Amino acid sequence: MKTTLTFASPSQLETECLVVTVLDAAESKENNNGDKSDKHDPKVQADDQAVLDAAADLITSGEVTGKMLETTLLHKPHGLRAKRLLLIGGGKAKKFNSAELRKIAGAAVRNIKAKDVKSFAFVMPAGVSDAAKVMVEGALVGNFDPDYYKSDRKEQKIEELVIVAPNGDKTALEAEIEQGRIIGEAQNFTRDLVNEPGNRMTPTILAERARKMCDDVGLKCEVYGGEKIRSLKMGAFWSVAQGSEEDPKLIVMRYEPAGAPAKPVLGLVGKGITFDSGGISIKPGEGMEKMKYDMAGGAAMIGAMRAIAQLKPNLRVIGIVCASENMPSGKAQKPGDVQIAMSGKSIEIINTDAEGRLVLADGLHYARQLGATHLIDAATLTGACVVALGMVNAGVFANDDALYNPFNQALAKSGEKMWRLPVEDDYGEMIKSDIADIKNTGGRWGGAVTAAMFLKEFVGDTPWMHLDIAGVAWMEENKPWIAKGPSGIAVRSIVEFAQEFAQDGGGAQG
Ligand code: BES
Ligand code: MN
Ligand code: ZN
Repeated sequence: MKTTLTFASPSQLETECLVVTVLDAAESKENNNGDKSDKHDPKVQADDQAVLDAAADLITSGEVTGKMLETTLLHKPHGLRAKRLLLIGGGKAKKFNSAELRKIAGAAVRNIKAKDVKSFAFVMPAGVSDAAKVMVEGALVGNFDPDYYKSDRKEQKIEELVIVAPNGDKTALEAEIEQGRIIGEAQNFTRDLVNEPGNRMTPTILAERARKMCDDVGLKCEVYGGEKIRSLKMGAFWSVAQGSEEDPKLIVMRYEPAGAPAKPVLGLVGKGITFDSGGISIKPGEGMEKMKYDMAGGAAMIGAMRAIAQLKPNLRVIGIVCASENMPSGKAQKPGDVQIAMSGKSIEIINTDAEGRLVLADGLHYARQLGATHLIDAATLTGACVVALGMVNAGVFANDDALYNPFNQALAKSGEKMWRLPVEDDYGEMIKSDIADIKNTGGRWGGAVTAAMFLKEFVGDTPWMHLDIAGVAWMEENKPWIAKGPSGIAVRSIVEFAQEFAQDGGGAQG
């Protein structure tokens, strides 16, 4: 999708479709009976009388209310050069911000491309920070459909988006558009990786894709196989890989901009289980096919590294993906086995299906060895996190507020939803083993937290954050702004965080 910028007046634009936001300016007040008033006060967000006139009848008739994601299409709008006018609701004017604008940009794309229209112009609403950036992000995300393996797939894609800005600094707006393009494309890159089924996305293929991406954007990339993983004494990582015929891969991507300070070094560690059968503690058959997306954390880190390489923050970043299958076989590890992690800690395996924490244990330790001073991991780690937060929020765990607080700001900027869960020693008790230092499951209760406590055993005193994306990495339903399938969650917030982190030199830790 090509994006261009224009300052032309919307009514004068020749376009297949002109998209204008409608906001509801009514204050939502309760009336005397305690009922919510259902009065709407829709306001068309364009500083152009001809556009307001073209929409006037729809507004006065009450057909258009400004409700979030409401769409109304008008052909041959009177007084406009556009062939069509699409009014898209952005909800309450008071609540309208960049997260809503990103969504309606995606929804506009999905609405228009379904009509086989290939280009449109979107009038930028006033009063939203980063408007141009989030419009491009949202449009790119909306333009992605993952139905590659359907032989009757329709190539319906928007080819050109014209952003219609009222006025303003052309250079700054173009820079915003470029940022939005980089971030949106990185998210789609991740979705592409996650979308592939297990037979087409083995650890070897994931590593090849990562290497190709690194070559394209100028990152250093090293890929190690099972032999090297064993010789590095990554006993936790190898214990998962040993049961599979597929060679595991340790993928190391480095962004080292000239002139960046030696510290901080941000370490991004992703779980890359390309298929999780559960191993000897095998999963039930129903729904097992979903475990092809168990590499979504790793894919998010590969996508984030791609965007970081293009946005060029002044900060060193190391990306590590621990890629493996988790399979049952005569060579697979068994419940009761004891494994020695790279850090030297001994782990009693209670359940071979708690494999993500095992590969991450060595990934996190290795990231510290390579010099990471701050760590973020992302993983489809626990079903318990899905039980706790559903498919709305990812779980965030942090051992350090100075790391979490700016990340929380990055979440607001990215529009991604994540909810903080506790990291407390009381939960650590639950993973003590009778025969080893720790065990790999903590029993039935608090499963998302005990998984995080397990990871914490491998980060020492390094500021660290863990993102459990099990519930949100795969969308079960189509949404107006995004197709069902892989979501690409965590890419945007990690990239926003990295940019912020580069600017304040790693916060208090410096
Ligand atoms: N990959 C799964 C977690 C998962 C569940 C991801 C649902 C996406 C959707 C993970 O490896 C796993 O199997 N976790 C177990 C841990 C348990 C054995 C302690 C779980 O959550 O059941
Ligand atoms: Mn598992
Ligand atoms: Zn898993």
